[in-house]
Amino acid sequence: MQNTSNPSCSDIAVIGLAVMGQNLILNMADHGFTVSAYNRTAAKTEQFLNGPAKGTSIVGAYSLPELVAQLKQPRKIMLMVQAGRAVDELISQLLPLLQPGDIIIDGGNANYPDSERRTAELAAQGILFVGTGISGGEEGARHGPSVMPGGNPEAWPAVKPILQAVAAKTAAGEVCCDWVGKNGAGHFVKMVHNGIEYGDMQLIGEAYQFMKDGLGMNYAEMQAAFAAWNQTELDSYLIQITADILGVNDADGTPLVEKILDRAGQKGTGKWTGINALDLGTPLTLITEAVFARCISALKEQRVQAEAAFGHRIEPIAGGCEEWLRALRQALLASKIISYAQGFMLMCQASEHFGWDLDYGKTALLWREGCIIRSAFLGNIRDAYAADPDLVFLGSDGYFKQLLQQALPGWRKVAAAAVQHGLPMPCTVSALSFLDSYTCGRLPANLLQAQRDYFGAHTYERTDRPAGEFFHTDWTGRGGDVSAGRYDV
Ligand code: ATR
Repeated sequence: MQNTSNPSCSDIAVIGLAVMGQNLILNMADHGFTVSAYNRTAAKTEQFLNGPAKGTSIVGAYSLPELVAQLKQPRKIMLMVQAGRAVDELISQLLPLLQPGDIIIDGGNANYPDSERRTAELAAQGILFVGTGISGGEEGARHGPSVMPGGNPEAWPAVKPILQAVAAKTAAGEVCCDWVGKNGAGHFVKMVHNGIEYGDMQLIGEAYQFMKDGLGMNYAEMQAAFAAWNQTELDSYLIQITADILGVNDADGTPLVEKILDRAGQKGTGKWTGINALDLGTPLTLITEAVFARCISALKEQRVQAEAAFGHRIEPIAGGCEEWLRALRQALLASKIISYAQGFMLMCQASEHFGWDLDYGKTALLWREGCIIRSAFLGNIRDAYAADPDLVFLGSDGYFKQLLQQALPGWRKVAAAAVQHGLPMPCTVSALSFLDSYTCGRLPANLLQAQRDYFGAHTYERTDRPAGEFFHTDWTGRGGDVSAGRYDV
């Protein structure tokens, strides 16, 4: 019996038949699970059952009670609906229908504090909540996404066989799905993944503009350059699709990308990553620059007016193209290392703050295949954390340190040329500034502390006295001896 209600025989229910939900259901069915499908708008359920799900074991339901009645116990219900209010609404509609031990999985793009809250609220009612990041877009959902589950650890043994079956696998057969941590940890790691994706995309965009406007390369040459880079340490999905995209022409035979408006959209996960970094005090400069780069891109009309008003033009860069391309590749690779180093610093900070006990090598493996940032590079990150699980800065690992040191001359050359020629490369340049700050044993913060003490009596520590001893100077001779109570580094 196909596509009809069959009491208590489905392994899992999926609510939400938008593209991700449908593809995930088909993927589950391919792996031998019986899935019940439900959508608020019944017509979509109908279309799905009579379309892609036709001839499969997928079962439809037209009400939540009918859906719940179709499930084996403990019931597993996965929500693939719009993040935010829809998830809370569905949870409250489901709660009266469920029994203690049943499991609700949110596979949408939730903000991690929502998953923290939902895990606690549902646990109080005996329901186990899983908040899982799922990355890979439509294709990934259908054939193997990267899956980042967190929430109530008691739910993991029950959902593990399904989530691991549908997830992407590496060439060596490792599964890109494993338990990330309690409460909001899964959605947090997904958020950082998305932030890193913002950084990778912006860095590639900057390299593209350097090639096009700085070096005067044509599309065939740029496509060839990215395709060649994809055979190096930069081997990744995003570099590969960039090469593909640069080779696509519009109907009139000219490059399609030239006709696409230069105004980037965003759904908010990059912004969340930046906000979180600011909250935790992590210097996540690259991802945050990438979010701001999208914000600047959105100011299209202002930019066009300002270009005319300032007479801004990008001066062509002279010199051998091959040599510049070598330097540019190094600049991109090194900036990417900094971006990931910062992302892992943020995860480390959050893990300590929230008590998640994240495993960084495992996280790199989850992103190795299936997701948008999948790359060979993540295999190296995984090796770095396998060798030293307490690695603080990815750039200190032997492999990455060597890459950074080799790249440094070319990276500086590219950053300097960008500044001199008026080429905007906010992420490439800020990544270099980060490394120069991070590896600088003495920064000008001594002067900053003096200023703070001058105007606000915020005190300072001295290099010739033990840390933790605070001093105040009456800089003008007109101040008193009273200093502020909080130093707050
Ligand atoms: P997409 O942008 O790909 O369409 P989405 O907007 O993230 O995806 O999610 C849409 C899904 O969430 C749909 O299945 C939608 O149901 P409808 O087809 O009935 O619109 C579902 N959804 C959104 N809000 C919902 C709610 N409050 N209750 C139940 N389902 C909801």
